Amino acid sequence: MSDFVGLAEDIAREAGDMLLAKRPAMSEVVETKSSPTDVVTALDKASEELIRARILAARPGDAILGEEGGEARGDSGVRWVVDPIDGTVNFLYGLPDWAVSIAVEVGGRIVAGVVNVATRGEVFTAALGEGAWLGGQRLRCNTGVPLAQALVATGFGYLPGRREVQGQVLASVLPRVRDIRRGGSCAIDICSVAAGRVDAYYERGVNYWDYAAAGLVAAEAGARIGGLHGRPSNSDLTLCAAPGLFEELHDLLAPLDPERDA
Ligand code: IPD
Ligand code: CA
Ligand code: CA
Repeated sequence: MSDFVGLAEDIAREAGDMLLAKRPAMSEVVETKSSPTDVVTALDKASEELIRARILAARPGDAILGEEGGEARGDSGVRWVVDPIDGTVNFLYGLPDWAVSIAVEVGGRIVAGVVNVATRGEVFTAALGEGAWLGGQRLRCNTGVPLAQALVATGFGYLPGRREVQGQVLASVLPRVRDIRRGGSCAIDICSVAAGRVDAYYERGVNYWDYAAAGLVAAEAGARIGGLHGRPSNSDLTLCAAPGLFEELHDLLAPLDPERDA
C-alpha cells in the first residue's frame, strides 16, 4: 500500500510542479465541456498526460480513469483514478485552491490517495488502514460538532438548472449551520474535513475522480463519507463529516430533495 502512496505522491508532486511552472504562460481556456463555464485548459490535459505516462512507465499493466482522457484498460487488477487539476476555475483565475488528485483502486476499493495542493506546498496522503497524513502530521477530523456550529463546505455544478436547485437547498442549509464555504475544489474541501479546517462537506454532481483520493484521506481521518440513504459516495450527492454530524447533515438534506434538478 505504501508503494502505491509513494508512487502516487511522486507523480502528483511532479504534475503540481509542472503546473506551477507553466500556469503563468498557459492558463487560458482551450475547451468547454458541459456548459460555457465548465472549462478545460491546456494544462489540465498536459497534467493528465504526464500522470498517465508516469503511471504506465512504472506499472504498464494498470488501468487508468482520468477526467480528461477517460478510461484506459489494464490487466493487473489495479486502476488509477486521476483528476489532473481539481479546481480548474481557481487555476484559471490564479486562486490558490486547486489540486492534483490521484487515487489507486484495487478490487473496486480505493487503497491509496494523494491530493497535492502545490500552491500551498501541502500534500495530503492516505493508505487504507494506515491513516491520513499532511506531511508528517496525522490527520483527525473534528468530532462532537453539532450541525448548528458546523462550518460546511459545498460546491456547485456547471449547469444552470442544477445550480438553481443547489441555491434552493443552500438557502435552507445556511440558516442552520455556522457558515458555508465554497472553496472551488471538491478534493480540497474533503481534505479540509480530514484536517479539521471545515466540519462537513456536501455536494451534488461531483465525479469519482473528484473525491476518490480525498475520500480515503477523510475516511482515514475518522470522517464518514457517503451518499443519501446509506448509499456510497456518488454523483447524485456526496456528504462527508464526522459520525454524528454526518447523520445530522444527512437528515437536514434528505427532505430537501437535493438530487432533483430544475
Ligand atoms: C470541480 C471542483 C468544484 C466542484 C465541481 C467540480 P474541476 O472540478 O471540484 O469544487 O464544485 O463540481 O467539477 O472541474 O475543477 O475538475
Ligand atoms: Ca474535479
Ligand atoms: Ca479537473
